[in-house]
Amino acid sequence: MSFSVRAIAPSNIAFLKYWGKRDSVRQWPANDSLSMTLSSLATTTEARIIDAPDHSLSFHKQSVTRGDPRFVKAFRHLDGLAKTFGFSDRLALETSNSFPMGAGIASSASGLAALTLAALSAWTKSSSLADLEGKDFDRQRLAQLSRQGSGSAGRSLWGGFVRWNAGPNPDQQSFDPVFDAKHWALRDSIVLFSKSEKSKSSSDAHGDAWSSPLFRPRLAGSPERMQRMLRALEKCSMSELGPLLEEEALEMHAVMMTATPAQNYLSEAALSFLVDLREARRQGLIEAYFTIDAGPNIHIIHCETERLRLRSWLETRFTDSDLLHDQVGTGPSVEGLNRE
Ligand code: PMV
Repeated sequence: MSFSVRAIAPSNIAFLKYWGKRDSVRQWPANDSLSMTLSSLATTTEARIIDAPDHSLSFHKQSVTRGDPRFVKAFRHLDGLAKTFGFSDRLALETSNSFPMGAGIASSASGLAALTLAALSAWTKSSSLADLEGKDFDRQRLAQLSRQGSGSAGRSLWGGFVRWNAGPNPDQQSFDPVFDAKHWALRDSIVLFSKSEKSKSSSDAHGDAWSSPLFRPRLAGSPERMQRMLRALEKCSMSELGPLLEEEALEMHAVMMTATPAQNYLSEAALSFLVDLREARRQGLIEAYFTIDAGPNIHIIHCETERLRLRSWLETRFTDSDLLHDQVGTGPSVEGLNRE
C-alpha cells in the first residue's frame, strides 16, 4: 500500500491588494492586505513519495520540467521546503486547477498553497489538515510557508475573509482570519476579457511599484482604507464595501500604469465594461462592484441576493465561456489516500 495525499487549496480575491514589497527575498509586503477566500476556483495537488533522482510534476496530466517558466516558482518552492525541513524524499506531484486552463485567472495563490500542503503532508505522512497541524505545522506556519512561494498564497490557508499583516519587520508578519465564510455570503463573478497568460507576472511587476509617484501616497492611505473595509465587512454593508473595492482596484492599476516600466493590464473592452457596470448600478439594475487583480479580468463582487439579477445582466453581454461564478469558501483541505 502506498501513501499519497490530496490537497485542495482555493484561490482568493484581494479586496485590499498586496502590491509592492519592502523585502522581496523575505516576501515582506509593502502594506497589509485583505481578501475573500473563494470556493470552487481551486487547485488540487496530489503528492506521493517516489524512488527517483528528482521530483516529478504534472499539470492537467501533462508532465512539466524544471525548466518550464510557468513552474520555476513551484520547483523553487518545493526545493526550499525540502531544504528548510531536511526532507530528502522525492515527490511525484499531480496538479490541476478547477478553472479552465489558460483562463487568465491567477493561480499562484491556490497553486502555491496546494503545493505547500501536499508536499508537507506527503513528507510527514499526514492524512488531514488537522494531522499536519498536529505535527508542528500549525495554520499560521503553513500560511507563512505558502506566502514564501507566492505572497497571496498565505491568505488561502483559511476560509472567509483573511488579513495579511505586514508587521514591523519581515519576521513579524502574520495572518488573521478576520471573519469566517458564514459571516457574509458574498459572491464573485469573473468576466474573462483575456484567456491568455499575463504579459508580465505579478511577481515581476511588484518590484516596479516603487517607481510610481502614486505608490507612496497609496501606502500612506492604505491603513485607513483597511479600517473602513473591515468595518464594512463587519456590518455586511455592500454600499460601504463596494466603493472601497473599486477605488482600491483602480488605485493599484494607476500605480501600475505610472510605474517604470509602465504596465497596463486593462483592455479597452474591460474599461468600457467598468463604465457600463457603474451605469447599470446608477440605474438601479444591479448592486455589484468590481475589483481587478494584476490581470485583464474583472471580478464582480455582490451579495447572494443579487446573484440572479447580476447573472442575467451579464448573460446578455457575454457568453458562458467568458464567465466564471464563485462565492466565499471555507478554506483548504488535505486528505490521505491509501492506494493499493
Ligand atoms: O502573490 P502574488 O505575488 O501573485 O501577488 C498578488 C498580487 C495581487 O493579486 C494583484 C493582489 C493580491 O493581494 O492578491
